[in-house]
Amino acid sequence: MINIINLSKTYQKENNTVEALKNINMKINKGSIHGIIGFSGAGKSSLIRCINRLEEPTNGEIWIDGINLMELNRDQLRKMRKRIGMIFQSFNLLSSKTVFDNIAFPLRLSKVPESTVKEKVHSLLELVGLKDKEKAYPSMLSGGQKQRVGIARALANDPDVLLCDEATSALDPKTTKQILHLLKDINNSLGITIVVVTHEMEVIKEICDYVTILEDGEIIEEGSTTRIFSDPRNETTMHFVGSNHELPKEFKKGKVLYLSFIGDSAGKPIISKLIKEFDIEVNILSGNIEYIGGKPIGKLTVEVDTDCSKIPEVISYLENNNVKVEVIK
Ligand SMILES: Nc1ncnc2c1ncn2[C@@H]1O[C@H](COP(=O)(O)OP(=O)(O)OP(=O)(O)O)[C@@H](O)[C@H]1O
Ligand SMILES: [Mg+2]
Repeated sequence: MINIINLSKTYQKENNTVEALKNINMKINKGSIHGIIGFSGAGKSSLIRCINRLEEPTNGEIWIDGINLMELNRDQLRKMRKRIGMIFQSFNLLSSKTVFDNIAFPLRLSKVPESTVKEKVHSLLELVGLKDKEKAYPSMLSGGQKQRVGIARALANDPDVLLCDEATSALDPKTTKQILHLLKDINNSLGITIVVVTHEMEVIKEICDYVTILEDGEIIEEGSTTRIFSDPRNETTMHFVGSNHELPKEFKKGKVLYLSFIGDSAGKPIISKLIKEFDIEVNILSGNIEYIGGKPIGKLTVEVDTDCSKIPEVISYLENNNVKVEVIK
């Protein structure tokens, strides 16, 4: 478990003070994949870099499995950092070293015997699917392959935590998915806690169990990925989830409702019952089903053609059936 308590980070540049993080409190469960999302400048990188003190917090505490990182001296911190791997958007590989030597680098730094290094690097190459690339140099690899090397290197010391700062932002959508699935597999098979910083909700949707939304250095919303997608509460969260939509002009007869069906309610004939029970017309304007963590969330935009007096009853009927309702118009 990672426990961040009253964390703040202030940067001083000449006469300028930037409060990048303001009193952040958050818990990251052991073995989970925890996403941190926000616009550019929200403080995501500052936050993830404070977790291993790559960035020194201005105030606050960082606890990992009962150890407060702020109380460690340099030596203790260096040991602790072996338990925390990190990968980056720009991969940060050593261009003059082969794939093998890049992955071996942290092991050799830890003075691991060369025979163990060889064995370990080979098993990591196998894990990330790069068995035939050990002699290649980074410049000979695709972006996805480079990030696989980055992941293998980050896992070399068998960390408990893997920090990922925009690890897929430089990759195309297909490669992004492959890398995300690799991270998910690693989380499943090795039980490593993964912290994922991103500005893309697709990344969260694909692999995260839990999400924290940052804005201007503050947490504005947090929750399970399913909850955040089905019931976003903050306007910025709605923006990321995509429920903050505008309607085409031609729909302007009745009331327009945006409905989210989650879990049980996704499989029930709620709309047809609604039509019968209230004797109203319901036009479906758009709809789709998304799978978040394997669970279906149905999203439906409907136009209810009725006089406004029935609307409160319609809404409470839907809400009683576990449908989240937003009145758009
Ligand atoms: N080394 C630094 N010196 C001064 N200001 C900094 C420094 N690093 C970050 N900042 C400022 O702190 C704020 C948060 O930056 P941070 O890099 O954490 O945001 P971010 O959410 O990761 O953004 P992005 O999505 O663009 O990577 C920004 O206003 C940024 O300009
Ligand atoms: Mg950043």
